[in-house]
Amino acid sequence: MTAKTILDPCCGSRMFWFDRNHPSVVYGDIRTEQRTLCDGRTLSIFPDVPLDFRSLPYEDGAFKLVVFDPPHLRKAGEVSWMRAKYGALDADTWRDDLRAGFAECFRVLANDGVLIFKWNETQIKVREVLALTDQKPLFGHPSGKKGGTHWICFMKTAPQEDTPDAAR
Ligand SMILES: C[S@@+](CC[C@H](N)C(=O)[O-])C[C@H]1O[C@@H](n2cnc3c(N)ncnc32)[C@H](O)[C@@H]1O
Repeated sequence: MTAKTILDPCCGSRMFWFDRNHPSVVYGDIRTEQRTLCDGRTLSIFPDVPLDFRSLPYEDGAFKLVVFDPPHLRKAGEVSWMRAKYGALDADTWRDDLRAGFAECFRVLANDGVLIFKWNETQIKVREVLALTDQKPLFGHPSGKKGGTHWICFMKTAPQEDTPDAAR
């Protein structure tokens, strides 16, 4: 059991955090990297915990909030700025990878915990990705210059127990 209550399993360079070292957050990513990008800026990815969102090293229900911002590009140049910054999906296995990612994020989320999902639909429509989880989103909002970036909120619902007829 971790004392931290928030998990960001794809933290990258933590760009969207107001506090990039918030004491309640576990910042995770599959890679550790530092390099200078083509525009001269430095990319720094130093997760607290190196992890794979398809198999998270946490107990069921360990977090109250999970922020899931996986790579959204199927095609990205091998040496492109976009790939360096955001990573890329495997062109063959991305559906299975994201399905496993959702399943793991919801597994480590407490019942009634909140999952915020961020997705840019330049290459893959948001509805295709939402079809990879049984959990239903509550609400969301497109943002960005072309409205292609979606912020979507879920609250984890506990599995429904079968109620005997007499107790209904
Ligand atoms: C869209 S970027 C996240 C950007 C981040 N939210 C920010 O504010 O800077 C996606 C990140 O997911 C990471 N990633 C890709 N596959 C992963 C996996 N299987 N498990 C964990 N992280 C992964 C990439 O290395 C990349 O840093």
